[in-house]
Amino acid sequence: MALPRDVIIAIDGYSSCGKSTFARAIARRYQLIYIDTGAMYRAVTLFALRNNIIGTNHFNRELLIAQLPQLKIEFKKIQQSEKEETYLNGENVEQAIRDLQVASFVSQVSAVKEVRAKMVELQRAMGNTGGVVLDGRDVGTVVFPQAHIKIFMTADPVIRAQRRMAELLAKGEQANFEEVYNNLIERDRLDTTREESPLIQAPDAIVLNNSYMTPEQQMEWFEALVKNKFGDL
Ligand code: DC
Repeated sequence: MALPRDVIIAIDGYSSCGKSTFARAIARRYQLIYIDTGAMYRAVTLFALRNNIIGTNHFNRELLIAQLPQLKIEFKKIQQSEKEETYLNGENVEQAIRDLQVASFVSQVSAVKEVRAKMVELQRAMGNTGGVVLDGRDVGTVVFPQAHIKIFMTADPVIRAQRRMAELLAKGEQANFEEVYNNLIERDRLDTTREESPLIQAPDAIVLNNSYMTPEQQMEWFEALVKNKFGDL
């Protein structure tokens, strides 16, 4: 079962639903380019933390906005892992952007209108020729409202927190269930209530609740969706 060459697939949804795992699997299965839009907001957040633009009691939005033109965010495929990794001004930050500190500040950074405008511009430039799968919060509503396939992912918050815990522990990081769970609920709240491009389900998106689904079942679900939409292309 093939997809049109210029296909754009948008996967939006709540934090830690397995959007990136699913999007990567789709990219591998259909030979598409994967664009992790959350990684881009995380990279901006890492930059803001490192430069003391944001911290527990302060956030200098004007300074961050002024620095935006200097930020270079790219994805490069790493040969050993066959994975796209995130680069910030030439430095591989794939590990650094995944820690809990970045996760605690990313919702504030991604609520800034100018930050969003820059990320959306980059995402459109990366994806506009098609053959791409993107995951995030506003891909099907703002970045590519014309996407051929829009999926809205959700899962039980306790299951999401358990998955996130397992991920952190596997990386050898300290993790506390309550902290992880609270961070996730707070990010959901901020992502859905912010003024700029809040997380909402596009009217033409198909909901995937993967609380009790294995990766294989999710791929079967997706293949059925492709068949239904494109028939025997
Ligand atoms: O998908 P993620 O958890 O890596 O995303 C990190 C944060 O970035 C998330 O809390 C909200 C924000 N984000 C966003 O506002 N818009 C996107 N398209 C992707 C992520």
